[in-house]
Amino acid sequence: MLVSAKEMLTKAKAGKYAVGQFNINNLEWTKAILQTAQELNSPVILGVSEGAGKYMCGYTTVVGMVNGMINELGITVPVALHLDHGSYEGAKKCIEAGFSSVMFDGSHYPIEENIEKTKELVAICDELGLSLEAEVGAIGGEEDGVVGTGECADPKECKMIADLGITMLAAGIGNIHGKYPENWAGLSFDTLDAIQQLTGDMPLVLHGGTGIPADMIKKAISLGVSKINVNTECQLAFAAATREYIEAGKDLQGKGFDPRKVLAPGVEAIKATVKEKMELFGSIGKA
Ligand code: 13P
Repeated sequence: MLVSAKEMLTKAKAGKYAVGQFNINNLEWTKAILQTAQELNSPVILGVSEGAGKYMCGYTTVVGMVNGMINELGITVPVALHLDHGSYEGAKKCIEAGFSSVMFDGSHYPIEENIEKTKELVAICDELGLSLEAEVGAIGGEEDGVVGTGECADPKECKMIADLGITMLAAGIGNIHGKYPENWAGLSFDTLDAIQQLTGDMPLVLHGGTGIPADMIKKAISLGVSKINVNTECQLAFAAATREYIEAGKDLQGKGFDPRKVLAPGVEAIKATVKEKMELFGSIGKA
């Protein structure tokens, strides 16, 4: 059964570790992440961007697939199905479709409008027992056509949004979606520290988990980050393993063209990436 992310993140914040959000793109992705979480006894959050939701034939298809897999694979660790960077309308659609968690990304609105819309969603999510993530300070880079300029959030604005009763807060601290450029300045720990001082127990979310060095991840967790989003890194691992299979001509040997064989190395690569992240985030054995 899908669960809200509230309990797993409250525990993570108190226990000084982070739960990974891994974005899903299809059946193989979902299965690889769920099986790894179960094997390592870790809570997990499956992230779905609006673009990936459309690609997978809509939110009800995603809910059906994930619920089916939880049953058929005997998954007992806590799993939240979460809309990533949702619009106001997208969040409502996911809630209707049966997601257990949504993100409303109002960071591109003026703060008053972000507050207004977030507040409405808090009321809806509260009534249904769903978790809600809000965002202050756009996160840089491009994800699924959503381009952010990358900024450091204003801690006072973070406090205003946190006080609305959301479950977790994403705040820009110099992080970027996708690969980090050579000249990246790194995470702004001063900003993170100031945000955590004002928001107290609120679980903080670090987007753009791909390519952040391990020591920065650990420091971010020590300063209150309890959810870390990873997307690109699984995509790169999947693509590299698939390329290797094809370049070695394995699809031309025997029944090597069978999609279950073609996709298998990529699936193993996703599993290895998820395992590595769960080890780094400290969520293993915390289910
Ligand atoms: P990356 O693609 O950089 O790992 O970022 C993922 C993310 O933040 C999803 O919201």
